[in-house]
Amino acid sequence: MPVFNRNASGHLNVNGMLLSEIVALHGSPLYVYSGDGIRSDYRNFAAAVAPVGGTVHFALKANSALGVIALLASEGAGVDIVSGGELQRALRAGVPAGKIVFSGVGKTDDEIHQALDAGIGQINAESQQEVDAISRIAALRGEVAPVALRVNVDVAPKTHAKISTGQRSTKFGVSISQNEAGTLYRQMANDAHIQPSGFAVHIGSQITDLDPFTEAYTALLDFSTALRGEGLLVPTLDLGGGIGVDYEHGEATEFDQYGALVSSIFKDSGFNLGFEPGRSIVANNGVLLTRVIYVKEGNNKRFIIVDAAMNDLLRPTLYESYHAIVPVGPTGHEIGPADIVGPVCETGDYLGNNRMMPELAAGDVLAVMSAGAYGAVMASSYNTRPPAGEVMVTDGVCHVLRQQRSVESLLDEEDIPSFS
Ligand code: LLP
Repeated sequence: MPVFNRNASGHLNVNGMLLSEIVALHGSPLYVYSGDGIRSDYRNFAAAVAPVGGTVHFALKANSALGVIALLASEGAGVDIVSGGELQRALRAGVPAGKIVFSGVGKTDDEIHQALDAGIGQINAESQQEVDAISRIAALRGEVAPVALRVNVDVAPKTHAKISTGQRSTKFGVSISQNEAGTLYRQMANDAHIQPSGFAVHIGSQITDLDPFTEAYTALLDFSTALRGEGLLVPTLDLGGGIGVDYEHGEATEFDQYGALVSSIFKDSGFNLGFEPGRSIVANNGVLLTRVIYVKEGNNKRFIIVDAAMNDLLRPTLYESYHAIVPVGPTGHEIGPADIVGPVCETGDYLGNNRMMPELAAGDVLAVMSAGAYGAVMASSYNTRPPAGEVMVTDGVCHVLRQQRSVESLLDEEDIPSFS
């Protein structure tokens, strides 16, 4: 059963708490997460990869609220970060530095220094230039940096183009061939300031067909085994994230098939395996609550204008992605299709188009489902709209993770030059 479900009287609740009460207390728009659900999905993932001794690094980019990170850290999770900012978040939330992996195509000198200052577990480099930069900085500091090389396996993940990272045409990784990734890894192995940690791969996100994983992982295993055969140290293989979730019904992700696939490929291979799931741990453990401002009858069309917008949840606008949208109260019978839109002055500002909806009135509260991943983290203050606040229900308590920002705090960040 989905974590957000209806009680006997038809009210949507999360872990026994009514969403209507949460929104009455904390206002809208509001992200609500289930800490219990996040913990349970993390445990299920960890259990699925336990037979191969996998280490899990939650991809912070999916949801980097300090409270969410701290919850996962308390479960023993490591994290995958992609910026100095995420590094600071992880450290502040109590993630041990040794459990932090730094991914991304463009780490600046400053970020590399920060990573070495903190003593993080692994930096995933994505180019010759980045390996050179890490080596130069480590040499300057008289240190040895643990570096894995992200390879590009040239596998299409069969997902949305904007979140496909596995093909050679994308900016990610170094081609998995003897004279590209192979040559660079040999150089790393001969560098006194680099401790070669192995290889990393991440082919994309929201992947629902497991075949591309099989293809990518098999290529990675063959390649790494060949380099090991040359006597090179290849301790770790980082298998990335990307497992798709059920946006239609919000059911928790089953990780068994993925775990079985990984076991069948890597069992007894002798590599330490790392994983970077993001979406599959948090997406269906979060909703965005929003209140109806107006119901406007257009030309043969109903527009439900709500107080959340593309600045709060960009996914529909950016990827045409689907999020179910339902009233938090008992659902009346559907009276016809409607577009659920925000107040931002763009036609692309919508949360859902052509949805069969019941009769709605100003003040009703809707839940935009499966919004726990890549929701709040992608928010902006476009139209000078302070992004929604975030709360999390854990062990029967609703914690405020972040208040909705005030307009004043947004304006206070700016300076007005003197023109006289
Ligand atoms: N590792 C690396 C290196 C990544 O780039 C990503 C996601 C992950 C792990 C986690 O992947 P996941 O398990 O969450 O699929 N904003 C987009 C998704 C972008 C994903 C970017 N990379 C969306 O809203 O769909």
